[in-house]
Amino acid sequence: MKRIAILTSGGDSPGMNSAIRSVVRYALSHGVSVTGVSHGYQGLVDKNFTELDRRDVSNIINLGGTFLKTARSEEFLKRAGREKAYKNMTESGIEGFIVIGGNGSYKGALVFNREYDFPAVGIPATIDNDIAGTQETLGFDTALNTAMDAIDKIRDTAYSMDRIFLVEVMGRESGAIAVHSALAGGAEDVIIPEIKQDMDSILEKVKQGRKSGKKSWIIVVAEGSGKTGIMVEELRKYIDDVRVTVIGHIQRGGSPSAFDRILGARMGSAAVDALLRGKRHHAVGWRNDAPVVYPLKDAVEYKRENFSQFIKLIQILT
Ligand code: F6P
Repeated sequence: MKRIAILTSGGDSPGMNSAIRSVVRYALSHGVSVTGVSHGYQGLVDKNFTELDRRDVSNIINLGGTFLKTARSEEFLKRAGREKAYKNMTESGIEGFIVIGGNGSYKGALVFNREYDFPAVGIPATIDNDIAGTQETLGFDTALNTAMDAIDKIRDTAYSMDRIFLVEVMGRESGAIAVHSALAGGAEDVIIPEIKQDMDSILEKVKQGRKSGKKSWIIVVAEGSGKTGIMVEELRKYIDDVRVTVIGHIQRGGSPSAFDRILGARMGSAAVDALLRGKRHHAVGWRNDAPVVYPLKDAVEYKRENFSQFIKLIQILT
């Protein structure tokens, strides 16, 4: 393999730049040229290509976001768009690509690989940590620390003013940021989409707590549970001063943690190795402190996480 392409796709996440830098420099050190694709799969369709040299990826390891830019491409979802992408890549001498992204990006790579038998390797990157087969995704650790930091700050004012706070954290269908930040931030309770929880018992605990003198309360709510609105409505029936903080996209930005930078560097080099060893439809993952390579089709399965132990512990420690 003499030339590969690298792209970031879907929602950005901290650590993507470290992975790009690793792919570029590791590939070059193995005599493989690298084409950078701007704006994800749309860049493949539009032939938005740039030659990447060692120096092009200088001073990006500490930056959040993705210097290649990212997008969600409607055109690539259609056969005609993928046909253009295939033509553009073969004309440019590209023999395989590495896509850094989440579930949707992996599905795109899988479809493209099946249609054109074109080598594609994925690096998991999403703050949601919801990709099957990997313990960690790029950006999760940084986002978790951002959420924890926000909860710490909210605790200061919640305690000082005896207030109840609902803190909504990100996670489209995943409670990963919620359970981890709730435990790390010492929150009183957590609501996630994966487990059917009894909202009445959560409300009852707050009411009993108020009666017994516990005045401030932090409940972390995962965005994907869709429960923020109803919970605030119910709580306000008994307690006037209930506040809601939606942390939002702040969780997606910022300088990546040391862990995410290391994850990016190690998974980036593992992805290049995978392509050079002839892997054609695979994903790199992280298990037991080391990169692993496994079929892309297994990575797009639903990630089953058992968060019940987290919830139990959070409630016991309240
Ligand atoms: O998948 C990452 C994520 O940040 C989710 O947690 C969130 O639901 C979604 O992306 C938001 O997407 P967008 O930035 O397109 O609104």
